[in-house]
Amino acid sequence: MPEIASGQSTESIDRAVALLNAGHLIGLPTETVYGLAADADNPEAVAAIFTAKGRPADHPLIVHLGADDLLSAYATDIPDAAWALAEAFWPGPLTLILKKAPSVPDIVTGGQDTVGIRIPGHPVALTLLRALAESRRQAGKSGGGLAAPSANRFGRISPTSAQHVADELGDAVALILDGGDCRVGIESTIVDLSRGAPVILRPGAISAEQLSLVLGEPIGSKDSVAKDVPRVSGSLASHYAPQTPLQVVDTVTIKDALQGPDRCAAIVRMGVDLEASLLQRPDVIVLADQPAAYAHAFYRVLRELDARGYARILVQALPEGTDWLAVQDRLGRAAHRD
Ligand code: TXA
Ligand code: MG
Repeated sequence: MPEIASGQSTESIDRAVALLNAGHLIGLPTETVYGLAADADNPEAVAAIFTAKGRPADHPLIVHLGADDLLSAYATDIPDAAWALAEAFWPGPLTLILKKAPSVPDIVTGGQDTVGIRIPGHPVALTLLRALAESRRQAGKSGGGLAAPSANRFGRISPTSAQHVADELGDAVALILDGGDCRVGIESTIVDLSRGAPVILRPGAISAEQLSLVLGEPIGSKDSVAKDVPRVSGSLASHYAPQTPLQVVDTVTIKDALQGPDRCAAIVRMGVDLEASLLQRPDVIVLADQPAAYAHAFYRVLRELDARGYARILVQALPEGTDWLAVQDRLGRAAHRD
């Protein structure tokens, strides 16, 4: 199994920098989910990400930076809207799709002329990214960005702890930096700024309302624009699925299933109308009735239930409001079966 080392220690950070500079992969904690990181300027190292994940080679990766002074090394024609969003939300759970700089390897962008960039809001990620950039500067070289998708095998649930990364990827990763449980728990909001009016490609903790406020105009989402949108692997319908069949149902269905012949598990929200005797069962997980707290726990709970071999996982339907949109999106994908 790969080594899990505390992201707090200077020695671990130094080792991670040395491994990355030598073309190896590391497990990177961020505030959203854990990433599988490689030197963004080393095409062979980035190729190893695709092998480790079993991810199709035309799916683009996000480049993570430690500070926005590196932005122009990876992106070009950066619009004012990008600087405004960067100022408001970075470091944080927001990815911007921009025109790529010529030096960004094709393997990072899946051959597209755009690149996804984010400055993550996690102290370990920032310390590592800044140490990496500094090591380049001292060696008289450019770079310092890390290409990193979520550190799960393709199509599986994103990891929100260092142990999840080890369970997903095993020895494909040289070292996993432990940064604790991810605060946000679902992937970043993705905003495309590369083709005119800003568009949300993937909902996340940063909402359309928050983005609109900074942009000074309403922002649309992918569903409200025509089909000509870039490929987003996270937008495949079956992405993020557990192996156990998952269904979104009402409380009555949950009650019946828990008392029926199949071994089912249920995820409900606080305040659900179920008897105390049901709520106390180990196969019934009660999550917060609030989107951020729900998102924080959702992938971890799915992963734990998935490992217990239930016939089905039943999830109480979520409220309709826009504040639940990002969680709705992940739940919808987890429920989808091809
Ligand atoms: O929170 C996150 O975004 C996490 C952490 C590790 O930063 N990363 C993450 O990466 O979720 P990944 O690869 O699992 O998902 C990134 C998404 C993919 O759906 C990819 O298609 C999309 O970003 N993406 C990356 N570059 C793109 C581009 N140039 N155009 C359109 N979509 C892009
Ligand atoms: Mg992913």
